[in-house]
Amino acid sequence: MNLKGKKILLGITGSIASYKSVELTRRLIDLGAEVTIVMTKAAQSFITPLTFETVSGKRVFTDINQEPLSHIALLESADLFMIAPATANIIGKMASGVADDLMSTLLVASPVPVLIVPAMNSNMYENPVVQRNRDILEERGIEIMEPETGKLACGYEGTGRFPDLKIIIDKVTEMIQKGEDLKGENILVTAGPTREPLDPLRFFSNRSSGKMGYSLAKVARRRGAEVTLISGPTALKIPFGINRIDVERAEEMMKECLPAFEKSTIGIMSAAVSDWSTDMSPHKIKKDGKERVLRLRENPDILQEMGRRKGDRILVGFAAETENVIENGKKKLIEKNLDMVVVNDLREEGAGFEVDTNKVTVIDRKGNITEFPLISKIEVANRIIDKVLELKRMASS
Ligand code: PMT
Repeated sequence: MNLKGKKILLGITGSIASYKSVELTRRLIDLGAEVTIVMTKAAQSFITPLTFETVSGKRVFTDINQEPLSHIALLESADLFMIAPATANIIGKMASGVADDLMSTLLVASPVPVLIVPAMNSNMYENPVVQRNRDILEERGIEIMEPETGKLACGYEGTGRFPDLKIIIDKVTEMIQKGEDLKGENILVTAGPTREPLDPLRFFSNRSSGKMGYSLAKVARRRGAEVTLISGPTALKIPFGINRIDVERAEEMMKECLPAFEKSTIGIMSAAVSDWSTDMSPHKIKKDGKERVLRLRENPDILQEMGRRKGDRILVGFAAETENVIENGKKKLIEKNLDMVVVNDLREEGAGFEVDTNKVTVIDRKGNITEFPLISKIEVANRIIDKVLELKRMASS
């Protein structure tokens, strides 16, 4: 791990965990980073600026009027702005755009990636208002670490503890290193289910929530790509900075995907596209006590068509399987002319539809098979993108 020459702006807010950020500062400096500290007024009730000045060897900033335009200058030179510990108060201020002191003004003005490390009492953290504010920040593309569960400084047991320093440092390193590695790439992602109508009221569909595809889109954008997300109906919000095109039927998805793929350098197709559709009745189908037969027509295979047209683009498909998962995945890789297939074994606990985690195996064109452990869909997305970049590097060497 090397942070040599990297500039980190570290914001300390009023939590008892602020003392842990003294050691965090020291460890970041040991890894080669240059750390500049900003403290809120409340943070100074827990720990003095002198402590941080001594550890960082640099002046600590506490006041917006300390120096003209200091907030702009501080941000201009930073690679990352981390708030650790972050209180419910600063998360709330960020979510509503309040800028009434140096810390909150820096956050509103920040053009650099922001990492939030919450630490607070578990009742506060789990309060729906705090959770809502947290979600707002995440929707805006801000990285938020999950606090740890355990004994808290206030004597409570619960979720709200400042994460282990090693985990924070891993996250900082990952964010700094991955900041720009997809710059210049134009990525097309598909997500969610399709809906095939039966009549004006009814449709058939599947259980895809869109979480896997949206995680891919968010991660790709965070890592510097221009992202187009073609999405079936989901309850998810448009991720920050992403061009989302909404579709319902497989046929509509195909119509949007083909021209978008032409403008892309990479396609990652995680949507659960319905393999069939049926003729839609123009009126509500009435029950009449008789058995009904549904005649299904096979939908076009969007991925296969993209495979035909892919040229030198990288094309990644998914395979949702319940038996012979690896063999079926390999078959899809070949049949659809993919560079990589992400195999989702739907029998695995915590994997596949609806959940926030996934467990996948990635197979590439060269026959390399990599199995990932059960991790968050965001982390799966990061690892898929790492693999895509590996393929790109191999292709150009
Ligand atoms: O959305 P979530 O709730 O987070 O769930 C994630 C997921 C389980 C949907 C996702 O991880 C996943 O496995 N997506 C692929 C689901 C699927 O439909 O797999 P498939 O094996 O039927 O299709 C293979 C590939 O062909 C997929 O890339 C699919 O997008 C594509 N396809 C399929 C049919 C079709 N007519 N056109 C296609 O392009």
